[in-house]
Amino acid sequence: MSSTPLLQPRSLKPVSSSSDRAGYQVYMETFGCQMNEYDTELVRSIMKARGFQFTPVDEEADVILFNTCAIRENAHNRLYGHLARYKARKKERGLVIGVLGCMAQNLKQELLETRSWIDVLVGPDAYRRLPDLLTDALEHQRRGLAVDLSEFETYAQIVPDRNGGVNGWIAVMRGCDNFCSFCVVPYTRGRERSRDPESILEEAQRLASHGVRQITLLGQNVNSYRSGEWDFARLLVRVADVPGIQRIRFTSPHPKDFPPALLEAVAQHPIICNQIHLPLQSANDRMLERMGRGYTRREYLNLVDAIQKKGPIVLTTDLICGFCGETDAEFQETYDLMKELEYQAAFVFKYSERKHTIAARKYPDDISEQVKGNRTNQLIEFQKEISLKHNQALIGTEVDVLIEGNAKKSDQQWMGHTEHNVTVVWPKESSTHLLGDLVSVSIQDATPSTLYGMPHSHK
Ligand code: SAH
Ligand code: SF4
Ligand code: F3S
Repeated sequence: MSSTPLLQPRSLKPVSSSSDRAGYQVYMETFGCQMNEYDTELVRSIMKARGFQFTPVDEEADVILFNTCAIRENAHNRLYGHLARYKARKKERGLVIGVLGCMAQNLKQELLETRSWIDVLVGPDAYRRLPDLLTDALEHQRRGLAVDLSEFETYAQIVPDRNGGVNGWIAVMRGCDNFCSFCVVPYTRGRERSRDPESILEEAQRLASHGVRQITLLGQNVNSYRSGEWDFARLLVRVADVPGIQRIRFTSPHPKDFPPALLEAVAQHPIICNQIHLPLQSANDRMLERMGRGYTRREYLNLVDAIQKKGPIVLTTDLICGFCGETDAEFQETYDLMKELEYQAAFVFKYSERKHTIAARKYPDDISEQVKGNRTNQLIEFQKEISLKHNQALIGTEVDVLIEGNAKKSDQQWMGHTEHNVTVVWPKESSTHLLGDLVSVSIQDATPSTLYGMPHSHK
């Protein structure tokens, strides 16, 4: 860690000092993946233990924290937009601004040097240091930087501070050793390390006792999970056996080393959802080689074959368009494979060069923005057609749905997901169903993203 004097010294008292609230008030926003959402729960827990309080109202806050993502350039730009808002407010009445997470780790000193109003920068492995750094900034106007990556930190003993709800997630491992050439994650989250299974099972039991009905196990490549005799398949089954849990999901398994035991667990265990996120990225062998993904188109297809032989397991995927040197014909191979595999859902991204990555060092980012954009839109539109086709096939059938909350558009409607992770919306009407119930819904209508229906019967 290094502490340097603040560029604009000013004195700060807690906003709360004149009221009956004790401690400093913190407002926090989270960007990025589920792992970052989970980390925000850890950060809240670490800070509350030291007397900080959290407020949903930014005007009330002494401290503004951003938990950031660095995966693509637009993630950066979004943060800069948000930071600008608080820069002005900070001038009016001192505020401490902290940037956490992947972008803090990735840009480090550079961010402190070019953004004088950022007081504290803390990377994903250094959250235990955050309370001290913030206190230093609040009370001694010192800037703080903590971006050491750790080979051991798993935050295993920290109980995440959740916002409630029937969905819970647990990070079972941190970091990534795969170094796919396009990806910044190995640099922002460091080396792979697995959390001990006992602490994971304890957390699953605690979640169940707090009303969580669906748990998602998180890791950048869950296939790499190892702790003594434990591998990921064994862990998954044990979490699925925790009483009270109705559904288990996991993300992501890497196609290069998908273990047969994991497939067996998905196929056999009734609680483990029959949906696998299997990021393809590209279906062209030259692109896959350049991306350093560790599998060929044929190997990926063999894995899909093995999965489909096990029964009705649906696949979702991630795709990157316009990676270095991608020709029209190479892009077409990805399009054609999408047509063949008909994923339930696909997340399609425009390639965004990230500093320090292997691709940034080795290959020119030579596909124009326009071509990248066209290819991306083409795949997004195509996937919409495919998803619509899957969803329309469900009209007239009944699906089991976990009630997860009110629909976005109306509190007179429930929202939940099918086992295959498709959103379902239906009227509450006079039914006695409650949040967390698994109910049967008769499907009457479908869009590419949502199924609409009527409640059928209790489960
Ligand atoms: N560990 C996960 C992926 C995490 S990042 C896995 O391997 O499955 C989520 C997705 O973001 C990736 O699958 C990839 O499709 C996309 N992505 C990562 N880096 C990117 C980049 N530089 N440009 C565009 N998309 C990227
Ligand atoms: Fe990135 Fe590849 Fe690791 Fe996923 S497996 S986080 S894409 S380096
Ligand atoms: Fe997640 Fe973004 Fe970091 S996707 S791991 S928060 S770079």
